[in-house]
Amino acid sequence: MDLNSVTPYEMLGGDAVVRAIVDRFYRLMDEEETYGELRALHEDDLSGVRAGLTEFLSAWLGGPKTWFDRKICMMSLHRPLPITPEVARQWSEAMARAISDQPDVDEKLAVAMTHRLMDMAMSMVNE
Ligand code: HEM
Repeated sequence: MDLNSVTPYEMLGGDAVVRAIVDRFYRLMDEEETYGELRALHEDDLSGVRAGLTEFLSAWLGGPKTWFDRKICMMSLHRPLPITPEVARQWSEAMARAISDQPDVDEKLAVAMTHRLMDMAMSMVNE
């Protein structure tokens, strides 16, 4: 295998693992009181954001690029939302747990991904 052509998406386990992370993330957000403030910013029906986050993560990791066809800027999308440091912390914690709950993910990749996503969440703080 040509290591130069291996994407983080492939290293992670592809579509099945991206979907499992997104599933776990929104389940945690939906079911645990500790993520209540984050949950309250979302609509009751999470199917749209579920599909959106799956597409975004796939493209971001070097997998299928359908997210880019939609030409949505992630920062502009979140700018109208009241994102406090506490809400960004809730997003980051739920995502860190969703990633670390996946059984067969390379640990270094999991840690690197988690930290970059946390940086992204923190950069969205606007209140
Ligand atoms: C920092 C805390 C965050 C909060 C409070 C938050 C909240 C939200 C909310 C309420 C929506 C629905 C917006 C709408 O439908 O108009 C949304 C959509 C979305 N968020 Fe976040 N988000 C956060 C961080 C992030 C981060 C760090 C990422 C990327 C890694 C992300 C990726 C997405 C995606 C892909 C969508 C769906 C876009 C679509 O397809 O319509 N979010 N977010």
